[in-house]
Amino acid sequence: MTLSHGALLYEGKAKRVYAVDQDDRVLVEYKNDATAFNALKREQIEDKGRLNCQISARLFEVLERDGIPTHYLGLVDETWMAVQKVEVIPLEVVLRNVATGSLCKQTPIAPGTSLEPALLDLYYKDDAFGDPLLTEARLELLQLVTAEQRVAIERLARHVNAALVPFFRSLDLQLVDFKLELGCNTAGELVVADEISPDTCRLWDLRTTDPQERILDKDRFRQDLGGVIEAYGEVCKRVQGACPNPRNCG
Ligand code: TMP
Ligand code: ASP
Repeated sequence: MTLSHGALLYEGKAKRVYAVDQDDRVLVEYKNDATAFNALKREQIEDKGRLNCQISARLFEVLERDGIPTHYLGLVDETWMAVQKVEVIPLEVVLRNVATGSLCKQTPIAPGTSLEPALLDLYYKDDAFGDPLLTEARLELLQLVTAEQRVAIERLARHVNAALVPFFRSLDLQLVDFKLELGCNTAGELVVADEISPDTCRLWDLRTTDPQERILDKDRFRQDLGGVIEAYGEVCKRVQGACPNPRNCG
């Protein structure tokens, strides 16, 4: 494929970021690489990049319609999107509506417990340290964000949850939990960055009650359940049905 872009600026586990002519934007290429457990488990999953790019684009547009600022500008190609250049805050913001995953490994909270209000956890985004869970005191000690930014981050993350829960529910999907990354764009505005996809969300299919069958996210890869791409494809099909014409910036 011929797509014009500048230098590779950054390569992460699931995406590459390239420069373009305009200083305030970059292009993101979604890769087929799947990783889990801080990349101890790795695989190439054919078509994952395209599905995550297509799902993310539409979810960013859902947020935008709710007045939530994101870095998303538009799709450029099947696996590429244009986004605002942002300085990513090295935090992983996790919102949990239902207890599962690491929460149930690290605490006695029973799997499936409904969490209202959603539990918000902040993790320090640094693979070298294994993305550790932060306490308020450690967050303050690290001085990663100001007290005002901390409040703005929580408000934004809860707004994202409030927008996505009913959207997914309308597609018979339960948003169990998800991870967000936030950044500051060149105008200094706090925006939702990175991606929102089955790689970063737990999504359960409300059309089945089978505890394994209902999993339509990266837990299928983490737990070796098989059918990873079929699950992502199902999420994409439902999201595309609700948002058939995403913005193109090609
Ligand atoms: P956890 O239960 O493993 O802490 O995961 C919480 C949510 O965060 C879940 O939706 C998956 C997502 N997540 C990521 O996007 N990246 C990660 O590295 C991890 C550990 C979780
Ligand atoms: N971000 C994690 C990793 O690759 C994967 C995960 O569990 O989502 O290492």
